[in-house]
Amino acid sequence: MKILAIETSCDETAVAVVEASGGGSFSKGFAGLSTRREAPSSASFKILGNALLSQVEKHAEYGGVFPALAKREHAKNLVPLLEAALEEAELLHESEQELDEALRASLADLLAREGALAENLLEFLKECERPALDAIAVTAGPGLEPALWVGINFAKALAAAWGLPIVAVNHMEGHVLAGLAQKSGETLEIKGVEVPILALLISGGHTELVLMREWLEYELIGQTRDDAVGEAFDKVARMLGLLYPGGPQISKLAEAARNEPDDFIKGLALPRPMLHDATCDFSFAGLKTAVLYLLKKQDGINDEDKKRIALAFEEAVSEVLWAKTARALKETGAKTVVIGGGVSANTHIRRVFKENIAKEFPGVDLRIPSADLTTDNALMIALAGYFRALRSDFADPATLSASGALSLA
Ligand code: KG4
Ligand code: ZN
Repeated sequence: MKILAIETSCDETAVAVVEASGGGSFSKGFAGLSTRREAPSSASFKILGNALLSQVEKHAEYGGVFPALAKREHAKNLVPLLEAALEEAELLHESEQELDEALRASLADLLAREGALAENLLEFLKECERPALDAIAVTAGPGLEPALWVGINFAKALAAAWGLPIVAVNHMEGHVLAGLAQKSGETLEIKGVEVPILALLISGGHTELVLMREWLEYELIGQTRDDAVGEAFDKVARMLGLLYPGGPQISKLAEAARNEPDDFIKGLALPRPMLHDATCDFSFAGLKTAVLYLLKKQDGINDEDKKRIALAFEEAVSEVLWAKTARALKETGAKTVVIGGGVSANTHIRRVFKENIAKEFPGVDLRIPSADLTTDNALMIALAGYFRALRSDFADPATLSASGALSLA
């Protein structure tokens, strides 16, 4: 099945084409002993085209994602990215097309709020043969609604033009599946995964532990009571005078600080919020405030101070993320742990998880996404789209809408 996937939930515009196979037969335990839906024994995704434009630099001056700007950028970037992805997939064949009046009118109507997108798409469709695709997967939420709508309306327009079904994808399911996938060359594979699967989702908008007792059925185990962990990284970075997004910059400073002598952060203790609380919930607002007080006590900070604070902050965050995951593992008996979302790019968090799983839960299979699949992309939307398509979980274009607060469980 060839899937075109579209992602516009935040500040990355992404379009991908994958050829997916397998995953339809679910491996079962001994007959009669297990009625659970196990993970598919093997599903394979050949990356045919993958095009992405990040807007992070454009949002940097606002210190965060500015929704109106994100929407405008998505509208501007979607047609060029679609063209690039189809071209890479060798599915772009130029030829003059007749677009009948009714189709033109309905596309113009669908894209009425997206600026020049309607015009650009009509130009493109006039010159491009219908590509050999089987379905369109698009992020329906969670995310910024104005940004989500651009992708959704674009998907509806393409589906109407090419007569394709649409799959509405939950962005967080995309992060989970991208985390479970293993990359070899230009192929992603999801195989040998055992349920229950515990997913730690850490991004700019989310910090949650969800459990899949059965394949693609989710149960919320714990979540943040205030800030998301990526948000905390970004806010602390801003306090240190670093540009948005702050996660990667804090990570770089903290890694540099690890090369300093052991007493480098002596006396600098940051709290571990809710570490000993008897739930799997998180809280990061207090940690952020602790950094703020620390900075208020000093007049001015130099580069050494920044490194110290970055290190102390990252250590505190990693410890809490691990402790809560360990608690959830004990409580649920999960056989697989997967980390997903932008913050899972963090080198230290990846290291802490690898070391602690090996030490404390040697029987548990830890899955960490390849670096290019941690932050938002369209491949993860294709993975989720495929599994939903296998279940014939198609959306009705007439009612499909953006859902900013869509949750997994
Ligand atoms: O998943 P994502 O790309 O977008 C959302 O869906 O939110 O995650 C973006 C978040 C930002 O807060 C960013 O600072 C954080 O991921 N991030 C990191 C790192 N790379 C990205 N946080 C810590 N360390 C990193 N290396
Ligand atoms: Zn994301």
